[in-house]
Amino acid sequence: MNFSVIRFLGLCPVLLSIFVQALEIADYENALVEFMDSFVDPTEIVEAGDTPLFADDIVGRVDVTTTFEGKELNIEYVYGLFVNLEKYNTTQILGKPKAFTVQSLIVQPPIVYASVILDGLYPTIDYHLPCQLDLTLDYNDKMQIQSYDAVFRRYPQAIQYVTPKLGPAIAKELNKTYSTATELKALLAQRVIVDTCTEHEQYCVGDNKQYESYQACAGYLSSIEFGEIWGAGLNTTICRYIHKYMLSYRPDVHCAHVGPSGGDMCSRTRLRGYYQHLPIQEDFRLR
Ligand SMILES: *[C@@H]1O[C@H](CO)[C@@H](O)[C@H](O)[C@H]1NC(C)=O
Ligand SMILES: *[C@@H]1O[C@H](CO)[C@@H](O)[C@H](O)[C@H]1NC(C)=O
Ligand SMILES: *[C@@H]1O[C@H](CO)[C@@H](O)[C@H](O)[C@H]1NC(C)=O
Repeated sequence: MNFSVIRFLGLCPVLLSIFVQALEIADYENALVEFMDSFVDPTEIVEAGDTPLFADDIVGRVDVTTTFEGKELNIEYVYGLFVNLEKYNTTQILGKPKAFTVQSLIVQPPIVYASVILDGLYPTIDYHLPCQLDLTLDYNDKMQIQSYDAVFRRYPQAIQYVTPKLGPAIAKELNKTYSTATELKALLAQRVIVDTCTEHEQYCVGDNKQYESYQACAGYLSSIEFGEIWGAGLNTTICRYIHKYMLSYRPDVHCAHVGPSGGDMCSRTRLRGYYQHLPIQEDFRLR
């Protein structure tokens, strides 16, 4: 075969792929914006209990918590958590994402890497805390997210930063006073325990009951390690607090997560599992 023919055959796919990719990149950008829009305004998806944005077998990992497998679980944790978060009239430790700004974006189909600044609202103190969410998304042929890795960058520091601002509101709600940092920590813990045990009493009844009484719940959650927000997938009180947002959806699945066993969502083994069970598909890892 003559050299120019080889060159021609070799160039063709390259030109073709540039052409195809130029079209696709805009599609991936749009898909990211569509996902972020749904993340800050999730009510419709939660009410429908379904979304075309996720593949049925979606697997995702969130650095402060853990790995979530399957569409239903991911709808609950990615969207449902924040819908329920807004229902409280008490001060919550997490801010509700109200808006987003994409600050950087890299698209290499089918992978999207995006860094997004979220505007997190704390309604009881009318305070907005920015938070950076770094996302790696892996899309399937139907433009559905099939795996993702989400990192809330410096989130433990952000929570540490906002805690003193939340203190006065929590003190008022609980009719308590505090002055030292240790007392503030105890106050925060009390807010977390009261909310978790109140929700447990409301939703975990019959076979789903994890604690004999509100007092037993509060006693247990005071006795174990409170934990930092980065340990929201470990055997900590803060992990059980994060899972309380799910109780109204499927008590039979989620009540165990606030109970003493942690129902495999709040467990020591999750620390190693975070590194050992990568949620991202193999085609991405080999790139
Ligand atoms: C918060 O809501 C609960 C029930 O939803 C209600 O009993 C309580 O009085 C409310 N608290 C405040 C401070 O509005
Ligand atoms: C708040 O606490 C103070 C002092 O402990 C007590 O005197 C007061 O009755 C409490 N108020 C309420 C509404 O519980
Ligand atoms: C969690 O920690 C408590 C207190 O150290 C321990 O008794 C319990 O067995 C632990 N639970 C799990 C699920 O690791």
